[in-house]
Amino acid sequence: MLQVRNVTRVFGRQAAVDDITFSVDGPAFVGIIGRSGAGKSTLLRLMNRLTDASAGQILVDGRDILALRGAARRQWQSDCAMIFQQFNLVPRLDVVSNVLHGILNRRSTLQTMFNLWSRADILRAIAILDRLGIAEQAPKRAEALSGGQQQRVAIARALMQDPRIILADEPIASLDPMNAQVVMDTLKRINVEDGRMVIANLHTLDTARRYCDRVIGMRDGRIVFDGTPGQLSTGAARDIYGADADFNEAATSTSIPSDTAPDDAYAARMLA
Ligand SMILES: Nc1ncnc2c1ncn2[C@@H]1O[C@H](COP(=O)(O)OP(=O)(O)O)[C@@H](O)[C@H]1O
Ligand SMILES: [Mg+2]
Repeated sequence: MLQVRNVTRVFGRQAAVDDITFSVDGPAFVGIIGRSGAGKSTLLRLMNRLTDASAGQILVDGRDILALRGAARRQWQSDCAMIFQQFNLVPRLDVVSNVLHGILNRRSTLQTMFNLWSRADILRAIAILDRLGIAEQAPKRAEALSGGQQQRVAIARALMQDPRIILADEPIASLDPMNAQVVMDTLKRINVEDGRMVIANLHTLDTARRYCDRVIGMRDGRIVFDGTPGQLSTGAARDIYGADADFNEAATSTSIPSDTAPDDAYAARMLA
């Protein structure tokens, strides 16, 4: 289904993603782990076409999605929804409207200007919120919700696109453990029940082991581990995170990057 072939992304003289190759056959739950700066976010952004590759191919059912332009590229972006650490909702907008933003790029400018949504779309947005256990939040402003609820709204917005693949960039890095579990359980449910592939950058080994069918470990832009959670030994984890003496199992890769602005990219895409 998904074949990433020799993909490289260079920034200046540095390769953020360096000749990466892997493939995923079915709707698996794939975790990507590695230190901050390993290239995890860049890899997801390449897949979603938020950034362009310097070399390589990403084949989805035989079609190179890196070569798509214009409408075909936008169609691909709605087939692979993106979820971010900071949720990227419109804070002062109500929850249902935030969910409806998942299909913003399918509407005309006039429809968007007058905030016209079809009854069918609104009902579908509410049904998705209901499925995720937050239907009662629908009329509230997004900013009034807890972090865990906001991330579920972001997942609902992704589902509104009816994507084949969900790309999640450290979806629980800003959440407390209880909300983190609810969000991961939600992603897992969507993966299992809907058969949508999930590829998630994760900042703890623990989460990767618990939720993923497969774990890819990145270091310096390269894949240094690719296997099942069972194969992810402490030794393998040391290879991924570096053999620091102070390595510990809760190793975190999370940092809010200052050099990339997914919020802006997301907004630009939505407004394109
Ligand atoms: N837009 C950009 N411009 C310049 N360098 C970037 C950009 N995005 C990422 N990088 C660099 O690429 C490397 C990988 O970054 P990133 O993919 O964000 O890693 P991770 O998500 O694993 O923390 C880092 O060294 C980062 O500084
Ligand atoms: Mg990152």
